[in-house]
Amino acid sequence: MDKFVIHGGYHLEGTVSVSGAKNSTLALMPATLLANGVYHLFNTPHLRDVKTMSDLLHTMGVEVSLNDHVLRIDTRGIQKFEAPYELVKKMRASIYVLGPLVGRFGEAKVSLPGGCAWGPRPVNLHIEGIRKLGATVELDAGYIVARAQRLHGARILFDISSVGATGNVLMAAVLAKGTTLIENAAQEPEIVQLAEFLVSMGAKIHGIGTGRLEVEGVDELHPADVTTIPDRIETGTFLIAGALAGKKHGVVRVEQCNPQHVGALLVKLEDAGASISVGDNWIEIVPPEEIRPVNVTTAIYPGFPTDMQAQWIALMTRSTGTSVITDTIYYDRFMHVPELQRLGANITMKDNIATVVGVPKLIGATVMSTDLRASASLILAGLVAEGTTEVLRVYHIDRGYESVEKKLQLLGARIERVEYDEFG
Ligand code: UD1
Repeated sequence: MDKFVIHGGYHLEGTVSVSGAKNSTLALMPATLLANGVYHLFNTPHLRDVKTMSDLLHTMGVEVSLNDHVLRIDTRGIQKFEAPYELVKKMRASIYVLGPLVGRFGEAKVSLPGGCAWGPRPVNLHIEGIRKLGATVELDAGYIVARAQRLHGARILFDISSVGATGNVLMAAVLAKGTTLIENAAQEPEIVQLAEFLVSMGAKIHGIGTGRLEVEGVDELHPADVTTIPDRIETGTFLIAGALAGKKHGVVRVEQCNPQHVGALLVKLEDAGASISVGDNWIEIVPPEEIRPVNVTTAIYPGFPTDMQAQWIALMTRSTGTSVITDTIYYDRFMHVPELQRLGANITMKDNIATVVGVPKLIGATVMSTDLRASASLILAGLVAEGTTEVLRVYHIDRGYESVEKKLQLLGARIERVEYDEFG
């Protein structure tokens, strides 16, 4: 297993580039199941989750190879319509194969994802949506088993705006007979990209980027190529690194990003005292003299993303006052809090609300990664903690950040990846 060893207190400055978006790639890959042929996904990040999705498609007979950020997918050999527990338990986004499989082949057997480190994450909206399109869906020995002759259009209203359920139902609806209306659809940039990709494959979708998607089913789709959008969470994580650990009057420049996708974060960073400049595909941040306390409540896009909540708490541990951070999307997503406390952070929890009282310094310690974004917050805290911080189990961060330590080294951070034996 690998850990990160971070020597804190070295200020960051310089330029870093953002990779393709994990959550876009994980939606685009299953969409290729909808038509036979060869696809190229450019700007694909080298991530553990992308490898897991590749393995999953491979078990179905799909050929997948990743070279120099170009993912080539050949779906001509698809012959199996099943997502086994061994892969779904590694990555919940595996559920994305349900919609395309049942939509195109009329059958799918997908393991139920089960729980997650940050509490229950139900898939009821995915199942209800697929049912409304005419599939029979049963639960059998831990698996979702869906069958249909041909799906038909339907009116679907999601009680909660869900990224995954919107993507899944959209992929099922594009080959259905008739028109499907999805109300309260997710509007996240990754769903916009998925919808645009489906259109480039021949799908008919109206209202892309709004909460009301109208899909006119077509009989057949064809393969297409696509360039993955920049990862907005990686973008945000580097910006927070700049705000927290940037050199006095120095600049951290984040390149190959889409500033429009991180609007909420930019406002909050300015509220915290950072100076921000923005271009077409870059953002520069000059850290504040003193980090002002800023409250944050997570919300669906374009609100403040739950995927940035842990990193924001890391920033607030060093603010000059008290801030309140509320996660309205995932109530239990606070596994990073006890670990940040081990570094000396002053945080109290009540339900889904963290109250953070800024402290003058954090002190390095050994801490444990528990999930992807929690790991990012621990690295951020380690960058400013006095002495040495060891972040164990970094396989979590490898799920969603490509070579994070190398990118931080480019900014001047003292961070190294070291192999260790956890049970040794
Ligand atoms: C996606 C992202 C994840 C991000 C999350 C919220 C991917 C691969 N992952 O996850 O990084 O944190 O969006 O922005 O894109 N819900 C239900 N029933 C369902 C589905 C969801 O109640 O069937 C609830 C969830 O518990 C949660 C809310 O809906 O409270 C939003 O979740 P959702 O948007 O579905 O998250 P994911 O697609 O799993």
